[in-house]
Amino acid sequence: MTHCVTLIPGDGIGPEVMIATRAVIDASEVDISWEIVEAGRKVIDEFGTPLPNYVIDSIKKNKVAIKGPITTPIGEGFRSVNVGLRQALNLYANVRPVKTYAGIKSRYDDVNLIIVRENTEDLYAGIEHSIGDVAAESIKIITRAASERIAEFAFKMARKEDRKRITVVHKANIMKLSDGLFLKCAKEVAERNKDIQFDDMIVDAMSMKLVQNPEKYDVILMPNLYGDILSDLCAGLVGGLGVVPGANIGDDVAVFEAVHGSAPDIAGKNIANPIASILSGVMMLRYLGEYEAADRIDIALAKVLEEGKVITSDLGGNAKTMEFAEEIIRNL
Ligand code: NAI
Repeated sequence: MTHCVTLIPGDGIGPEVMIATRAVIDASEVDISWEIVEAGRKVIDEFGTPLPNYVIDSIKKNKVAIKGPITTPIGEGFRSVNVGLRQALNLYANVRPVKTYAGIKSRYDDVNLIIVRENTEDLYAGIEHSIGDVAAESIKIITRAASERIAEFAFKMARKEDRKRITVVHKANIMKLSDGLFLKCAKEVAERNKDIQFDDMIVDAMSMKLVQNPEKYDVILMPNLYGDILSDLCAGLVGGLGVVPGANIGDDVAVFEAVHGSAPDIAGKNIANPIASILSGVMMLRYLGEYEAADRIDIALAKVLEEGKVITSDLGGNAKTMEFAEEIIRNL
């Protein structure tokens, strides 16, 4: 069966890691027809927006997409394409597996957790205004509907992935109404899903505990902002942003992408680590039901890492992005 997949190369290191990802997926012999659509900086002049309608239309048609990172300028300018996409397609669950790979140097050797981040609201609702130049405010939106939906998703996913425990992270001691509602909804859903253990942790304490004993955590459920921040922290536990994949999941549409951004500091040098994108591709293959191809890539990647001869500079080697991808292909 041919799968039609939208591919967005993205900005910065995006095109480099996406070419590598596509080469590995194609080499696994899965039948994919790629529809390549551009978004981000390079289309702004022509379309007046980094997220033209054809991008959304293509993903709605194909139902599955994989994307490179897209730059969001700090301060004034366009809204984040990433946030825009997630909201336009109602991709409410952001799933980020974080695990230790033998061969990747890090301080821990047994991290294996999954972050489930609410993806549509919180401070990312984008409702901000200035009061002259003396003050500004951002509104944090937390709804019962979205909080229940993401908690239900986390329990369902935990069961499917044979996970034993969910920890919900919040700051309900200070934001009693907004984070309080997120926590309350998670607790209510936990009451209906007693086969999975459940606890909660305040976000500041969680940051410390993740650095001290990350191996103790299984599934971590978070509102949007804490999920964004702790995703990078967790990437740091297992070798950095170059190795952590992700998926944005909605009811019938999914967009796969690495946790990292467009990395302007290394863009154009062909030294970016493509592992995070390739593993996002592996998640996509499983979503498409292509388990055998996904397993083959996973095994080949683990072998390349264990051998440790061909690795990118962020992991201490000197391989170029495509050399790494070609080494995986040789091991498929
Ligand atoms: P970043 O993730 O792009 O980079 C942070 C650091 O990690 C940099 O030193 C970079 O060189 C390194 N790094 C990231 N990915 C790497 C890889 N694959 N291999 C080796 N090193 C890697 O974060 P930053 O600098 O905060 O953001 C840059 C731009 O990306 C911003 O415009 C931001 O808004 C955007 N961004 C986009 C995302 C997306 O499209 N989903 C996600 C995160 C940020």
